[in-house]
Amino acid sequence: MTDDLATLAAATARELAEARDLRTLEEVRVAVLGKSGRLTALLKALGGLPPEARRARGAAVNALKEQLTAAIEARRAALEEAALAARLGAERVDVTLPARPSALGLIHPISRTIEEIAAIFGAMGFALAEGPDIESDWHNFGALNIPAHHPARADHDTFYLPASAPGQPPRVLRTHTSPVQVRTMLAAPPPIRVIAMGRTYRADHDATHSPMFHQCEGLALDRALTLGHLKGCLIDFLRAYFALPTLPVRFRASYFPFTEPSMEVDIGWDRRSGEIGQGGDWLEILGSGMVHPKVLANAGIDPREWQGFAFGMGIERITMLKHGINDLRPFFESDPRWLRHYGFSPLAPALLHERV
Ligand code: PHE
Repeated sequence: MTDDLATLAAATARELAEARDLRTLEEVRVAVLGKSGRLTALLKALGGLPPEARRARGAAVNALKEQLTAAIEARRAALEEAALAARLGAERVDVTLPARPSALGLIHPISRTIEEIAAIFGAMGFALAEGPDIESDWHNFGALNIPAHHPARADHDTFYLPASAPGQPPRVLRTHTSPVQVRTMLAAPPPIRVIAMGRTYRADHDATHSPMFHQCEGLALDRALTLGHLKGCLIDFLRAYFALPTLPVRFRASYFPFTEPSMEVDIGWDRRSGEIGQGGDWLEILGSGMVHPKVLANAGIDPREWQGFAFGMGIERITMLKHGINDLRPFFESDPRWLRHYGFSPLAPALLHERV
């Protein structure tokens, strides 16, 4: 290497070592390899040399060009890596820090109750089941032993939708979550232990009724389930949900077309103060019973082999009772002031027993 090339090589090596960031590095590159860079000038000068001299000099200048290009790229890689390491160091997230309480976003009381119900029945071994809001007449009524013209259909104030095909009965917005019982039984053989929660619809609107509301359905089928299991399961649930270990619970004979025998379930409360678990009054809270043999047969299950219980309750109702909310309408009016008052922090998990 001639002296001028050695000098350029040494000067560039020093400048590269001194370049502490990518901008300075780029300046060095332009000064050497750019249009009017020092090495570019040497390449241009080759044209003025006699052919003999040009060959040797050309090889040397081009070798230096490759060497400097490689050195610049190596320096670039090192600087980029250092810049990334510095960023990663500065932006490190401490995942062990507690979450900052947020003023934004609260869990709606209905969602909160759904989480609590799932937690309590989940601990008892119930899985979650689902069904569509738009149901066939058969799933919502027929399979549940509510034939056409049965008075129970009138009680439900059903919203009807056009039939899926001519000649078929109209479809319905499900009036209860009980059709999920039928779907669950058709989907897989017993034993079954499920709860189903979701929207239900009835043409009804006042302070305690909304045309859209939510229900929770339960279904347990096995070879030897009895009324005793039904009672134990519901007493445990109600005491856990209301966080009152001695909550009085009463079972009262009733009628549903899809259970036999059927029972309405009441909890103890004080009618005047509204306090749950105190006082001498009873409040009806849910419907239940042993699954009717006809319903089992309709869903393809042999009633001589399998039996069990089912129950259904209104999610708004038990939410209003637990939290002392006395008007149902604001639940679905999306008023942020109401939600700020009654909503739950997303950071507070639903516990199985809050005071038990
Ligand atoms: N489906 C009934 C209702 O909506 C409740 C219920 C469900 C009763 C399961 C008994 C068994 O009123």
